[in-house]
Amino acid sequence: GAPRDLAGRRVVVSAGGTREPIDPVRFIGNRSSGIQGYALAKVAAARGAEVVLVAANTALPDPAGVRVERVGSALEMREAVLKAAASADAVVMAAAVADFRPVTSATSKIKKKDADDVPRIELVQNPDILAELVGRRAPGQVIAGFAAETDDVLAHGRAKLARKGCDLLVVNQVGEDLTFGAPDNAGVVLSASGREREIPRGTKEALASVVWDEITSLLT
Ligand code: C5P
Repeated sequence: GAPRDLAGRRVVVSAGGTREPIDPVRFIGNRSSGIQGYALAKVAAARGAEVVLVAANTALPDPAGVRVERVGSALEMREAVLKAAASADAVVMAAAVADFRPVTSATSKIKKKDADDVPRIELVQNPDILAELVGRRAPGQVIAGFAAETDDVLAHGRAKLARKGCDLLVVNQVGEDLTFGAPDNAGVVLSASGREREIPRGTKEALASVVWDEITSLLT
């Protein structure tokens, strides 16, 4: 059986991809399936943690013994994650949070008028939830992020870890048929301490186990 090394710990995991509304029927979204985040939640629960899973637009069954909170947009995810994180020992941001959202969401469906009519959709930046978590981190709380990169994976990952200020950053290569919606994943766990641990291609659950091993080693 799984080690119960997360017994008595409260953890928060985000999963899926946010959708940023354009009008009542349209959104800006991304290809995240949520499988990796769900695997993290499942593994943490199996290791004894009390888990809150903040799930954005996923079509996966609720993992047993996990409290699932469903959200749509990045702003909704921010609210749910920050609230749950206030009493958490560890937070893992596995969700793909949209960097930008439309300034306003039209209240009725945007119509195509004449032949060359094209609406302009103005965007604003979303808050960076991971950076905000770091800004309000309680002493001893461990914060981990994920970074999906298409090229220069390690260099971008190291820069991102430093920029975001989290304890761990799991970097993986995405694009083509890699990772999105797939049952398997591979990556490197970068630690703020400079440690780098390569995770060979395997199930998303196997990757989740390594991530929790790394987090557990930082919990006091
Ligand atoms: O900068 P980038 O979006 O690649 O960073 C990815 C990491 O940051 C993920 O852990 C993701 O959940 C988190 N993130 C966030 N808020 C955003 C954008 C990304 O928490 N607005």
